[in-house]
Amino acid sequence: MAGLIPQSFIDTLLDRTDIVEVVDRRVKLKKTGKNYSARCPFHDEKTPSFSVNPDKQFYYCFGCGAGGNAIGFVMDYDNVDFPQAVESLAHTAGLEVPREQTTPQQDAQRDRQAHLYTTLNTANHYFQQALRHHQQANKAVEYLKGRGVSGQIAKLYQIGFAPPGWQNLIEHAGDNALESLIESGMAIRNEKDRSYDRFRDRIMFPIRDQRGRVVAFGGRVLGDEKPKYLNSPETPVFSKSRELYGLYEAKQSRKPIERIVVVEGYMDVIALAQHDIHYAVATLGTATSEHHLTRLYRLVSEVVFCFDGDKAGRAAAERALHTVLPLLEDGRHARFLFLDEGEDPDTLVRKLGSQAFESLMKDARPVEQFLFDLAAEGLNKDSLEGKATFSKRAVPLVQQLPNGVFKQLMWQSLAERTGVELASLTELAQVQQPKPKAILAQELTPPKDKSKPANRNENMTGPSKLALTCITLLLQRPDIAEQAKSEDIAVLNDAGEALLCELLTLLARQPHSNTAMLLGHWYGTAEGELLARLAGEESIIPYEGVPAQFKDCLRRLTLHPKLRVLQGRINELSNRGIGSLSTSEKSELKELLTELRALELANS
Ligand code: UTP
Ligand code: MN
Repeated sequence: MAGLIPQSFIDTLLDRTDIVEVVDRRVKLKKTGKNYSARCPFHDEKTPSFSVNPDKQFYYCFGCGAGGNAIGFVMDYDNVDFPQAVESLAHTAGLEVPREQTTPQQDAQRDRQAHLYTTLNTANHYFQQALRHHQQANKAVEYLKGRGVSGQIAKLYQIGFAPPGWQNLIEHAGDNALESLIESGMAIRNEKDRSYDRFRDRIMFPIRDQRGRVVAFGGRVLGDEKPKYLNSPETPVFSKSRELYGLYEAKQSRKPIERIVVVEGYMDVIALAQHDIHYAVATLGTATSEHHLTRLYRLVSEVVFCFDGDKAGRAAAERALHTVLPLLEDGRHARFLFLDEGEDPDTLVRKLGSQAFESLMKDARPVEQFLFDLAAEGLNKDSLEGKATFSKRAVPLVQQLPNGVFKQLMWQSLAERTGVELASLTELAQVQQPKPKAILAQELTPPKDKSKPANRNENMTGPSKLALTCITLLLQRPDIAEQAKSEDIAVLNDAGEALLCELLTLLARQPHSNTAMLLGHWYGTAEGELLARLAGEESIIPYEGVPAQFKDCLRRLTLHPKLRVLQGRINELSNRGIGSLSTSEKSELKELLTELRALELANS
């Protein structure tokens, strides 16, 4: 098997490649100012919002957020994987792609993964065959018919049947496949070293990844037994927080997709598809992740979340809100659809038909309304106290939005709703630093161990606003990274600013990297998408002004964690009431306050 492509070669290749030529060969570009533009090849649009920047060697679409360097463009446009894109660009540039020697372990791992895909594919064929030909298939077919699933939809979603019995798949796949059946979660080995099929007497739903490879299964019982669904465990080729059931199938459909609806169940996706709503996906028994949403927003500009109307549904919606807010750049939309208790999309679309269901989605609550509704929950908004609590809850939510027109409008709307001036609200936003816990989820989940320091990454919140500014400046002028000392990087690391730290560390090692190289390092990851977006932002700071701006931001950013620690201790002490403090605590408080004031002065 071919070895890895060395990073140094990728840097050379990007150096010798002009992204303008690469793109122009595929999509005709027009010069507009110092950039080039065209109608975006990755989404449907009438006016060009796709732009290619020759200086920084990257492309970005302001409409759909697609962006990256030349390699990324070729991957997405030609629909090829990373090595193939590198090969293709190298060919054009007249370069030979060198390969790093891989270690035997790396080879072994790759072989094993290939084996897992093959095994899962075998299983998928077996289940589909069994649905047609197994002597007990009849009851499975009847079950599906009873739920209104046509042969055509069953075929499209490759629905299958795992017959009753403990060894069907194991025997079908043969001895050589046993280890890989176990590793892919299709078989289980007990303490007595006996192996048996995980899925028995179940309707089988294969879960396919971006490229259509089967990576896992869900299996439903035919009756009321428990558990209703069994799912593949996490394996080297399957991670629940990355995959969405039905996404591959939705993309395969010839019809254009304007929005995606996120539902809870396999059968919801199937029933909607059965009713011609071919753009539904289901999370696999987990919350919608940032990764899920990033992928969806690459495809469409609107995501509709569909939830049960009960308390668990509300809590899930609130979680989804927190995940989606940071991703809502201008032009992206989210809606929340709450169904009546006892309904799910499957029952509802069968009752109402597709047109009525589609209009439910069109009229579903827009994210801004859901946000304000949530903040207003249980409050009397006419009272002064109600207004205060309302803004206290809403500010940190609005704050999570990325900078842009939508965020501005949200601040304005919040100001109107509370009668508080805009300036005071944004000031409040600066003070309320640590992100709030969910309002509803708080009631449902036990409080976390407070002695543990808050870790940004754990909560999956991205870089702070200041860190984003630093990152944007670094992308504009990577050379300014030399200003950051290793102590700064350590403070940032403690503050949870992982991405900024990684950027600075990388630039310390490779000071001559340019923007395209930086994007290349993160290509295909959520961070990569963020970086591409930031790199695409029009800068208002002139080139010469960037170092000073960076210096200032970095100082404020590294100061901030210190301030936060101070503020935390001060709050702790003053919340207990001055009267109940010991003498030493009182003098500590006094010292802390002096220190805080000094830091704030230095910071202003
Ligand atoms: P639902 O019970 O809402 O699924 O669970 P559904 O698709 O509507 O089921 P039926 O067939 O119409 O009765 C939603 C999702 O939660 C996960 C599955 O991913 C399911 O699709 N789940 C549910 C499990 O993993 N295990 C279970 O036992 C139940
Ligand atoms: Mn259901």
